Amino acid sequence: MYDVVGVGFGPSNLSLAIALKEQAADGTGRKISAAFFERQPAFGWHKNMLLPSATMQISFLKDLATFRNPVSRFSFVSYLHESGRLTQFVNNQDFFPTRQEFHQYLEWAQAHFGESVSYGSEVVSVRQAGGGGSASRHLELEVRDVADGSSRLVHARHVVISTGLVPRMPDGMERDERVWHSSEFLTRFRSVGSDELKSVAVVGAGQSAAEITRFLHDALPHAQVHSIVPSYGYSVADDTPFANQVFDPSAVDDYYYGTDQTREAFWRYHKNTNYSVVDTDVIRDLHRRSYEEEVRGYRRLHFHSLSRVDSIQRMGNETLVSIRSLLDKETQVLNVDALVFATGYDEMDPTRLLGDLAALCPRDDGHLQVGRDYRLVTDPELPCAVYLQGGTERTHGLTSSLLSNIATRSGEIAASLADRLHADRERALPGRVTEETV
Ligand code: FDA
Ligand code: NAP
Repeated sequence: MYDVVGVGFGPSNLSLAIALKEQAADGTGRKISAAFFERQPAFGWHKNMLLPSATMQISFLKDLATFRNPVSRFSFVSYLHESGRLTQFVNNQDFFPTRQEFHQYLEWAQAHFGESVSYGSEVVSVRQAGGGGSASRHLELEVRDVADGSSRLVHARHVVISTGLVPRMPDGMERDERVWHSSEFLTRFRSVGSDELKSVAVVGAGQSAAEITRFLHDALPHAQVHSIVPSYGYSVADDTPFANQVFDPSAVDDYYYGTDQTREAFWRYHKNTNYSVVDTDVIRDLHRRSYEEEVRGYRRLHFHSLSRVDSIQRMGNETLVSIRSLLDKETQVLNVDALVFATGYDEMDPTRLLGDLAALCPRDDGHLQVGRDYRLVTDPELPCAVYLQGGTERTHGLTSSLLSNIATRSGEIAASLADRLHADRERALPGRVTEETV
């Protein structure tokens, strides 16, 4: 029986594991037993998009711990120090490390939690133990061993679900070995010989689409590379200082306690800090390549602007992509060897995992209600807490699926958990609870 079980072990729950560890060490005497289950065979953070030279979209200081605890030994700076790279990093004068380096940092951090994490373990359901009802004070999780398919049950007083973004394909488009979503890009790309890829296309105008287009242009020097862009051209991600305030920990309060108009204003004015936008340097790089080809009089990088994919037809290893331009309403058919949909993600939805428990979670306008402490609002029939890391954009704002606020959020969840466990014990042993027994 664990005090808390984390479902998924990406950066969010890794940050929570750190917060719990540091909370235990902060002198309050609180000991919270925790276990985490991750379906990947080893730690991996969007590995299929670890493209050479792709950089982080947040400052290195927005790491797993610093905003909660600036002296944490799990900070990015601590990692650099231990790796012997701190001085070179500072000499490099760049707030934004490569994704490769940040991945190494995350791997370094997770290695401190070997005993609490089970990799290759997918949580397939969460239910109330002992038949349910308000007397049932713990949860039962079914965990599937990804390697051999066997299942076991794990018991927890409370759970934290952090299963990440869900890849989104346009309606009617199916993935296969030559039609990919960006989330599977590198694995798929490596599974096909480069010499087989003479013509490729990328759909979308977000960061993923721009980075993949650039990568394909480099990796396939003789191929035709088509970028099917729904807008007139790539738009820049606003990361200027005032706009960046939407990612501050304090913005969560402004968003959560704001009015509907406040929240609507956040989206109207600041969606372009994250969605359907691209970093300036990548945009400039792509434009420079395009211009150089024009000067040379040889084009193999093609931008189809204001265009959307109407349909696709698979023929052997070839794919016929029918694209419609909003400029002239004309339809053009491209014959490509691989088609990448960099069409974004849906946010995490815990409903499937919760199964019947979802019926005990009241909804507001069809959406699950979530407390400021990221705990799902539940009927009294479900006294165990279900916390969400992700899937709270509607209630907590833009940082929900990002790294910007994970250190602070994990601290808030750890503190809320400690309070609930204290109350659980108080209920079980009235008047006999001390800090040490919690
Ligand atoms: P994340 O998706 O990382 O982890 C969830 C984990 O849960 C996964 O490892 C998954 O395997 C596991 N899982 C899912 N279901 C499970 C189950 N049923 N049982 C067990 N395990 C399960 N944001 C930002 O602020 N700065 C940035 O630079 C970037 N960069 C970036 C690059 C790319 C390519 C993408 C797609 C996204 C980003 N992001 C980002 C946003 C991104 O959401 C964020 O970086 C983190 O991945 C969020 O961490 P989480 O742990 O919440 O999800
Ligand atoms: P995104 O920002 O949501 O962009 C998706 C793109 O696909 C948009 O241009 C969208 O156009 C387009 N699209 C959606 N449906 C379409 C359709 N049916 N037909 C044509 N186009 C369609 O997704 P993303 O680029 O994957 O980025 C997701 C998150 O990952 C962001 O937070 C981003 O910052 C992050 N990321 C970070 C890095 C990095 O750190 N280096 C790299 C990649 C991604 P509309 O605007 O018209 O919907």
